[in-house]
Amino acid sequence: MPRHTISYESYASPEELTTEDRGLLQAAKAVLPNSYSPYSKFKVAAAARLEDGTIVTGWNIENAAYPMCICAEPVTLAAAASQRPGMAVVAMAITVKSANQVLDQPASPCGSCRQQLTEHESRFGKKMKLILQGEEGPVFIFGSAGDILPFGFSAKQL
Ligand code: THU
Repeated sequence: MPRHTISYESYASPEELTTEDRGLLQAAKAVLPNSYSPYSKFKVAAAARLEDGTIVTGWNIENAAYPMCICAEPVTLAAAASQRPGMAVVAMAITVKSANQVLDQPASPCGSCRQQLTEHESRFGKKMKLILQGEEGPVFIFGSAGDILPFGFSAKQL
């Protein structure tokens, strides 16, 4: 039978990361308070590193009409597109903070976010490293957003 496997790195704490990756994660954590999430009380923040080294941040923005809530990842991709049109995001750190519990494991991007992150990768022909951490605990690093969207839908089929 065919088999699909993915590899990722797990680090016990941010101290074990490279300076560059640790800095990106810190940038995401620093903007967590900006999250507008009065309904879920679940803050998500992201920091994107662009090809020229620019760091752009974003966070989830909720709405009383719940389905209109926007995840932190597309907010960050849109901020990057606005600040550096036509430039690839090569890494994104994503972190979360819940009002209900201390999250000691990374939260995974939702399916919709995975679709948007992988479209960005295919559009620019560049892999986007993902650096994920909960409020505390281990840091997971995936070499490519596509790694967490196996068998995803792509424009090649249109
Ligand atoms: N959320 C994100 O920002 N990114 C994800 O990948 C998963 C979920 C947000 C949406 C909503 O504001 C809150 O987390 C709870 O679902």
